[in-house]
Amino acid sequence: MTDFNGKRVLLIIGGGIAAYKVLELIRRLKERGAGVRVILTQAGQQFITPLSVGALTHERVFTDLFDLDDEREIGHIRLSRQADLIVVAPATADTIAKMASGLCNDLASTVLMASDKPVLIAPAMNPKMWDHPATRRNVKQLRADGVALIGPEEGEMAEEGEAGIGRMAEPATILAAIEERLAALDGNQAGQFLKGRRAIVTSGPTHEPIDPVRYLANRSSGKQGHAIAAALAAAGAEVTLISGPVTLAAPDGVTTLAVETAEEMLKQVEAALPADIAVMTAAVADWRVTEAATTKIKKTGKAPPALKLTRNPDILAALAAHSNRPELVIGFAAETNNLLKNAQAKLAAKGCDWIVANDVSATSGVAGGVLGGDANRVHLLTAAGSDAWPEMSKAEVASRLVQRIAEYFGDDRPRRRDEAEAHPS
Ligand SMILES: Cc1cc2nc3c(=O)[nH]c(=O)nc-3n(C[C@H](O)[C@H](O)[C@H](O)COP(=O)(O)O)c2cc1C
Repeated sequence: MTDFNGKRVLLIIGGGIAAYKVLELIRRLKERGAGVRVILTQAGQQFITPLSVGALTHERVFTDLFDLDDEREIGHIRLSRQADLIVVAPATADTIAKMASGLCNDLASTVLMASDKPVLIAPAMNPKMWDHPATRRNVKQLRADGVALIGPEEGEMAEEGEAGIGRMAEPATILAAIEERLAALDGNQAGQFLKGRRAIVTSGPTHEPIDPVRYLANRSSGKQGHAIAAALAAAGAEVTLISGPVTLAAPDGVTTLAVETAEEMLKQVEAALPADIAVMTAAVADWRVTEAATTKIKKTGKAPPALKLTRNPDILAALAAHSNRPELVIGFAAETNNLLKNAQAKLAAKGCDWIVANDVSATSGVAGGVLGGDANRVHLLTAAGSDAWPEMSKAEVASRLVQRIAEYFGDDRPRRRDEAEAHPS
């Protein structure tokens, strides 16, 4: 855990039952040396008092847009700018709706509109509210606007007999998300826990030519793989991203190589070795057309052309069995049914260390769908068992995965083989 010395967090506390948990978050932020300033919404004051918040922050608590004293002393514009990060917790359905539509009719929403700072929200609400089409629309909009989400998680609600997705992430989880965001903001050396490590990431679909104008492909957008490459780079790793055809910008600070086919992808993955970490996120086509036509296939004759298919190389299995195998090989399993069973079988069959399993079916329940969408809900399978992560943005899946990778390596594990040989200690 790093120290937040000198970092300033503006915390907006909304009117939800989970507001009481935020007192613990404030305590932990203060313990770690962060400056914490709080805006408590009118509804928030029904759940916790400015007195208890102020006692923890040792600062005045802001509650009212039209408080002239505050406007003279600090003002809502300065309040929004004098922070490194704005955190909204609990983020109520109401505040999320205001943020998504640009309403600013109280201090919290006005500060959020006037701000040019990164925003992290921790939604908390009844599962029916979270599932409501309006909330789904609003959350999708916020993600598109670059707002980061942590949670909500699945579990029992405060209301008797109610359970589902809607619980606010625990204070420790929010604290970790704050830490990641702050570290990513200034390239904080303390956040560079993968400095000196090399990583290979694959992303996107592959295109397998049928003829010069047609190809076999899949719906992968590359958003998850690109987010992982970006998060590894933000954590200090030297990253080579090998991507199939996507419409995404190459992430900053990452060496990005564009390929089309599975065979090209395998070649580039092998050429990028040695590495410590491999995250094989690409949705590689299982088959290719055995002999792609060299000229466009014409509609002559009555019968459509028969396409003969050949198995493509299995990049994940090939890498896991490679003589220069990265220490940590992570595969992705995109399944439409029997998610955990199929992912478990993949983990056993491929020889990789971890599998990130995601349900890519139309019934996954993830807002916007997993393939092509901005959110994901995954299980992380390791030798120790499987962890179910709540629905979160693909960027958050990426940071959480990178955090797990960093925990796996720790500081005392040897660097990749070639470096250890070059610098024997
Ligand atoms: C007992 C009680 C608990 C509530 N809990 C939540 C909640 O967890 N999440 C939520 O979105 N709204 C909750 N609400 C409704 C909000 O307080 C209400 O929408 C309010 O306008 C939110 O204002 P704010 O977004 O400015 O804080 C609750 C209301 C009551 C009376």
